[in-house]
Amino acid sequence: MKKTLERFALNGKRALVTGSTQGIGLAIARGLAESGASVILNGRSSEKLSAAHRELSAEGHTVESLAFDVTNPNSIKAALASLTESGKHIDILINNAGIQRRAPLLEMTLADWQAVIDTNLTSAFLVSQAVAPSMIERKSGKIVNVCSLMSELARPTIANYSAAKGGLKMLTRSMCAEWAKNNIQINGLAPGYIETEMTKSLVQDEKFDSWIRGRTPSGRWGCVEDLVGATIFLSSPASNYVNGHLLVVDGGLSAVV
Ligand SMILES: NC(=O)c1ccc[n+]([C@@H]2O[C@H](COP(=O)([O-])OP(=O)(O)OC[C@H]3O[C@@H](n4cnc5c(N)ncnc54)[C@H](OP(=O)(O)O)[C@@H]3O)[C@@H](O)[C@H]2O)c1
Repeated sequence: MKKTLERFALNGKRALVTGSTQGIGLAIARGLAESGASVILNGRSSEKLSAAHRELSAEGHTVESLAFDVTNPNSIKAALASLTESGKHIDILINNAGIQRRAPLLEMTLADWQAVIDTNLTSAFLVSQAVAPSMIERKSGKIVNVCSLMSELARPTIANYSAAKGGLKMLTRSMCAEWAKNNIQINGLAPGYIETEMTKSLVQDEKFDSWIRGRTPSGRWGCVEDLVGATIFLSSPASNYVNGHLLVVDGGLSAVV
């Protein structure tokens, strides 16, 4: 392998990808594994977790699974303690788990506000707080927070989501302010409109689908594979002097009015 390409390799690294039983998280886990990392899958549903585990194992990747709810501090601590007890540490943390609950602001329930803030923002605080001490001790680590185009822009009916993703962008910078000196790089990845289970109802909505295709300079929805290259970059030595950055992968949508 050429020296430049070696800087993108992840051999010998262990990566935890939260919310990796499907969609963007699963594609990222596969991409990191194909780049040489051993990956730890995560989600709440043990059925979905086993299916994703089987899928990546069958492709020849080194995979482990940790079922825990990213909003539950005790479950997070217990899961990570089980890892530490077996002498393992995490080199790369991808805070990807997220949910969407749409409603106009005046009709949004406190439960839907709270669930989205907890799953998309507080989760990254909790999981990173559990993982970072070992990175600080080893003076090495990569954290990628999966933010969104909605970290920068708003749209009707997703105030909870935009508030959470905007907060996650600033949490990324705050982590950088405190942890970068320990040779930890913390960056955000901001996907645009990507076809997944989360956006299924929008893809099936003819009016929205045609708006997205017209509004996005690339003229199409993103696919989960579109996010893999950027994540490998942010997880590898190739990005060792990139810190506190939000890398937008949106087909140009946010660059053009
Ligand atoms: N799709 C897009 O257009 C888009 C755009 C920008 C940003 N994003 C962000 O990208 C990330 C992934 O989105 P996606 O489209 O791939 O969504 P998705 O297909 O709905 O997948 C979400 C994943 O998160 C897991 N999850 C949800 N709540 C969890 C919890 N409390 N604890 C642990 N895992 C949990 C789910 O597994 P379980 O159900 O098993 O828990 C699933 O694996 C999210 O942060 C999302 O906000 C997506």
